[in-house]
Amino acid sequence: MLKDLVKNLKPSSTLAINETSRQMEEQGKKIFKFGFGQSPFQVPNDIVNELKNNAYQNKYLPMQGLFQLRDVVAKYTSKKKNYEYKPDNIIIGPGSKELMFLLHVIFEGEIILPAPSWVSYAPQAILGRNKIQVLQTKRENNWFPTGKEIEEIILKEKKKNYLLFLNSPNNPSGQVCEHLYEISNIARKYNLIILSDEIYSELAFKDNYKSISNVCPEKTIISTGLSKWCGAGGWRLGYFIIPESLNNIKNSINVLVSETFSAVSAPIQYAAIKAYENDHTKYVNKSKNILSAIGKYVYLNLKSNKVLINEPQGGFYLMPEFLNNKFHSSSEMCDDLLKNTGVALLPGSDFGFKSNKMLARLSFTDFDGQAFMDEIEDNQIIKDKEIQKLAPKIIEGVDKLKKWSESL
Ligand SMILES: Cc1ncc(COP(=O)(O)O)c(C=O)c1O
Repeated sequence: MLKDLVKNLKPSSTLAINETSRQMEEQGKKIFKFGFGQSPFQVPNDIVNELKNNAYQNKYLPMQGLFQLRDVVAKYTSKKKNYEYKPDNIIIGPGSKELMFLLHVIFEGEIILPAPSWVSYAPQAILGRNKIQVLQTKRENNWFPTGKEIEEIILKEKKKNYLLFLNSPNNPSGQVCEHLYEISNIARKYNLIILSDEIYSELAFKDNYKSISNVCPEKTIISTGLSKWCGAGGWRLGYFIIPESLNNIKNSINVLVSETFSAVSAPIQYAAIKAYENDHTKYVNKSKNILSAIGKYVYLNLKSNKVLINEPQGGFYLMPEFLNNKFHSSSEMCDDLLKNTGVALLPGSDFGFKSNKMLARLSFTDFDGQAFMDEIEDNQIIKDKEIQKLAPKIIEGVDKLKKWSESL
């Protein structure tokens, strides 16, 4: 009674690792939760209070989203991108993930997925019944595709429509895409649309961060939301910004919105206005200061001639490669690591890499973000002694991981 399309999909191994971790914890083992990708910080108080004040809001809101919210988001983004977005360019969804799914459903063509890329893109593309072209990226290119590599795929069948997923800062690599102009040239030359997943963009460590939407706005759908920068993954509020030139896509997604979730929860939308209207620079800067210090600590203390890593540039992940001949697959490697040390990582094969590549994703969020924020000053230089005090599991877990990598 199930469609073949669905029968062949498995729950992601994120869930499997969480399940094994939970069982080991129940047996009294100490687990270092470096597999889980969730902001360690709390939602800022002004936004929480606004949610409380709006709990009474009980009406269905417009399907594209509350006008005032779309208005503040349009103003906020136009200022950042130096491109004029209007409230009508924005669709509010219950998390950006759901909107991406609807995009897969309406799009007719081929999906170009760089490896590594986020775990849900490929299953969603399969459910949308579009062919996937996986593009294996290289460490020396910051784990992003080059313009030439994208062009090679398109040239095989020029007449098709192509949708490229670009996620920068990237989950899982923690890297920022630098090939913006060459990718933009390819998008303009061929029939290429880009989904720019900017969910970690507020957490890019360098202030001069730019994404493909800065360079090629007319071919780019921006996908982002509250989940990562604002610690509000569980609130489920994300949005798409779709330029006028892609209005047919916007209109079709709107139809699917009206036939599926109708509109995002009203109180959450009212509260989200404050997220974009009020100034949260201090909160975001503190988050970035902590994340970049911890990311750098992990990078410096783990890298060796047996562990290759690119230094994280944003978000809360990095992607070590453990040089060894001991394991056949990255998932076998992560199993061994978890059972022997209690350190949970996700295998690179979950992110589109060939299973014999010994890559894994490490999320450096196993600490109490609020306590860390409360303890440090704005712009304080965070030293190892602060990390030792406020993120002790990071120190202990990295130490275990390092010893394990030396034993391979
Ligand atoms: C790369 C990436 N894109 C999108 C999402 C989903 O975000 P949302 O909470 O807006 O659905 C995540 C969350 O884990 C993510 O890591």
